[in-house]
Amino acid sequence: MSRKPIIAGNWKMNKNVQEAMAFVEEVKGQLPSEEVVESVIGASAVLLNGVKFQASGSALKVAAQNCYFEDAGAFTGETSPKVLADLGADYVIIGHSERRDYFHETDEDINKKAHAIFRNGLTPIICCGESLETYEAGKAVEFVGAQVSAALKGLTAEQVAASVIAYEPIWAIGTGKSATKDDAQTMCKAVRDVVVADFGQEVADKVRVQYGGSVNPANIAEYMACPDVDGALVGGASLEPASFLELLAAVK
Ligand code: PGA
Repeated sequence: MSRKPIIAGNWKMNKNVQEAMAFVEEVKGQLPSEEVVESVIGASAVLLNGVKFQASGSALKVAAQNCYFEDAGAFTGETSPKVLADLGADYVIIGHSERRDYFHETDEDINKKAHAIFRNGLTPIICCGESLETYEAGKAVEFVGAQVSAALKGLTAEQVAASVIAYEPIWAIGTGKSATKDDAQTMCKAVRDVVVADFGQEVADKVRVQYGGSVNPANIAEYMACPDVDGALVGGASLEPASFLELLAAVK
């Protein structure tokens, strides 16, 4: 089963308008073919319109970093998935550990967001991952499995097959302490096994699973060589055009 690799930069709350536009202008003519790899930038909601506009005509896809689970209404300060679709976003990252930790998002919220994203014709990049404590206790597979199962609850087989799941151990995010390729493979396979259990092998063969956590141009190739790793979600190393392009170029 061949799955198209997907490399997504997660800019988090970085870059102003000018910096974001300059980045896109620089990379857009140098992206690898869409046949080889999907190139995605996750920008903050306030930058999305500009990034999408600047990227038009190129292979660069755009992800939001969050959304609400209602389409419209009295939800001051929230971002509508319907408007994200309207803006031409392709993906929405949900359940990032920073959202879970700092903004108290629950598995239930993330599941509602996944439904809202599909309802609006977008695709979720669903993040999961364990803390160092859970990892050291040998409970990562169980913990992450429960997160994935909860996030996918009630979705159709077709929706799950189209989803992207990003396994990001919290202890590897922004720390420079990336997971070993064996750990990344074990955990990405564990994520896929949950999809097998909940939705069957055919769906699991299609869902794309990324590794994330201190991925950089020097280590991405070893993750991409793992049979169950279909891409990467990259924070720090996605901020500079040259580094983002190197990450993409590492996908063969
Ligand atoms: P990092 O962040 O690549 O800077 O570790 C990854 C992420 O948070 O998605």
